[in-house]
Amino acid sequence: MIYLDNSATTKPHPEVLEAYHKVAEHYFGNPSSIHHFGGESERLLTHSKKQAANILNVLPEEIVFTSGGTEGNNMAIKGIAFAHQNRGKHIITSQVEHPSVLEACHALESLGFDITYLPVSKEGIVNVDDLRNSITPETILVSIMSVNNELGTIQPISEIGTIVKKHPKIFFHVDHVQGLGKIALDFKAAGVDLCTVSGHKIHGVKGTGALFIRKGTTLFPLQHGGGQEGTFRSGTENLAGIVAFTKALRLIKEAQDENQVRLLKLNKMLREHLREIPQVIINSPAGTVPHILNFSVPGYKPEVIIHSLGEKEIYISTKSACSSKRSDESAVLAACQLGEARATSALRVSLSYGTTEEDIEIFINVLRRIVNELHEVMG
Ligand SMILES: Cc1ncc(COP(=O)(O)O)c(C=O)c1O
Repeated sequence: MIYLDNSATTKPHPEVLEAYHKVAEHYFGNPSSIHHFGGESERLLTHSKKQAANILNVLPEEIVFTSGGTEGNNMAIKGIAFAHQNRGKHIITSQVEHPSVLEACHALESLGFDITYLPVSKEGIVNVDDLRNSITPETILVSIMSVNNELGTIQPISEIGTIVKKHPKIFFHVDHVQGLGKIALDFKAAGVDLCTVSGHKIHGVKGTGALFIRKGTTLFPLQHGGGQEGTFRSGTENLAGIVAFTKALRLIKEAQDENQVRLLKLNKMLREHLREIPQVIINSPAGTVPHILNFSVPGYKPEVIIHSLGEKEIYISTKSACSSKRSDESAVLAACQLGEARATSALRVSLSYGTTEEDIEIFINVLRRIVNELHEVMG
């Protein structure tokens, strides 16, 4: 199998699975139980939180463990909206956010909030002047992703943070799900108040992640109950998942620099080979993260190519099926105004540290064959 769909999810690292198994088996006590066995779980939870906070350069009380990116984004956006609506009901985001941000914003619109969806350039980048000009006295939140999941575009997070910080009433949330372990982002230095990360995108296990909530930020909790996680997220903690997440976080951060060099090399190779296929147009502009490469084969249905690659056990993906006016169109590519032909034929290859040069060679050869066959059949 050649797995090139790492932005959808990654294979858990063996050490992560080992940690998960060990904790699930031996630390099944409830961290809230007052007996000794519960206390052991609580100590492990506290230790994990300190470790995760240390790696992310924040305080332990600023970390809330979640079930992943979707929960973190909803918790941040709805949590700020509900807690601070008396100060204003305006939120700024972009047209190329993940559905877990866009749909949370649509839901808030139905409750009377006013949302600005900023347009992006052809490269998928938000214009900071547009953002600055969109701020009104009613604005309470700006939510912008660090790395786009379809194109790999990097947004100017620090610049946006600097603008937002001039407005003490506005919170800044970053969806960092695709950026974690891939690009450097110091949450506090960049002026970020809330930041979402997800475990299964960094070789952790599914159903794990974290939300950074800057000290002093109040959120309306989406889950009420026993008051776990500093009352931000009630519910018995997924301790095995939390330990596994922290382990994945440590491993990805330790290897970040070395892996970056490898991924850049693979990305360059992939781009060069794709350019040799005449029917292919590369959509990811230069300067994007190296682990995501988006391209189109205009005129051919991406599902047909995915299916043909799948027959050879090569796995890549199409656009995310999200909030596009046309069901077969990538909303992200449409927002970049790359034209209907490209937006309806987009494919995404996403690499991981396990990807080899041989994987890329095989993928390209099979893709070339498939495209040639389609060309012969369909003209
Ligand atoms: C940018 C981005 N945000 C959020 C999510 C949702 O994360 P999760 O799958 O952990 O809920 C994803 C998942 O693809 C993503 O790419």
